[in-house]
Amino acid sequence: MSSRSLSQEAEENRVVALDSRESRVKKPEAKIICILSNKGGSGKTTLAVGLGVSLARLNLRTLILELDASPGDMAGLFDLDPTCSLEQAIDSSCNPSQYIHKIFDKLYVLLGPQDPLRGEMIKKEELERLVRVLAEQYDVIIFDTQPVLSDITLDAIKMSQETLVVSEPYLESVRRIAIMLDLLSTRFGVYTRNFKLLINKYRRLDPRRLTLRDVAAGSSLPIFWLVPFDKKCRNSMQQMRQGKLSRAHVVRSLMKLAVEICPDARASDVRRWV
Ligand SMILES: Nc1ncnc2c1ncn2[C@@H]1O[C@H](COP(=O)(O)OP(=O)(O)OP(=O)(O)O)[C@@H](O)[C@H]1O
Ligand SMILES: [Mg+2]
Repeated sequence: MSSRSLSQEAEENRVVALDSRESRVKKPEAKIICILSNKGGSGKTTLAVGLGVSLARLNLRTLILELDASPGDMAGLFDLDPTCSLEQAIDSSCNPSQYIHKIFDKLYVLLGPQDPLRGEMIKKEELERLVRVLAEQYDVIIFDTQPVLSDITLDAIKMSQETLVVSEPYLESVRRIAIMLDLLSTRFGVYTRNFKLLINKYRRLDPRRLTLRDVAAGSSLPIFWLVPFDKKCRNSMQQMRQGKLSRAHVVRSLMKLAVEICPDARASDVRRWV
């Protein structure tokens, strides 16, 4: 080998070393959480919003990223201009902030694709590139997904450090979850054992519900969290969306969940609310 090619090789190695050091520096900062359920109406959006508001009130800069084009509910819930949404943020991934809605201090929302066809065409690399940029700007990113295992949902799972699986405590819901988890691991090679199972709309004296043991056995995941049924859920959530935290059981449960999954939340603020 000539001395020239040796020095070339050394230079290439140096570039590789610099690249890997750079990618270590640019490692995503945000904690990325995926809210997942193939059971429509199980409470994904409610939990994404409740968790997002809680984390923001605990001083973490939080982005709720809606990955639901079915269509999603975020624009209506927060009364946001639907023309600023994920498609635009993807198309301008070096400066996506202009398409992100500020709700109140520390809470931000990026609306899901308003055009379902464009939503289906979003490529994994495009979403990854966007999330990489956003991960440097936020402490937490929460994906609110749609109730089907679409490509975009699979990409979201793969990008997340934490996947929260939402089920209602009923046979139909638990069965669906079991099928989804099986499909994810056997067909798509996703490691699901570390997913966390949240039971939403839990009522102790509910004759229809399964026992907690049956829920865990049926879904093959241990139960991580119980979110109580709240008949004033819509009211509680409306207050939450304005940044107000009531004493409602559902709100307290989500606040405690926020602390559990993001221990970075400031201790003094936690004591104030929980
Ligand atoms: N803990 C709760 N107690 C009472 N009602 C609840 C609770 N959580 C959610 N709900 C209600 O359940 C309904 C469905 O909730 P939500 O829209 O969050 O579900 P989703 O899983 O996002 O639905 P989709 O699959 O259509 O996206 C809403 O009316 C919401 O107010
Ligand atoms: Mg939803």
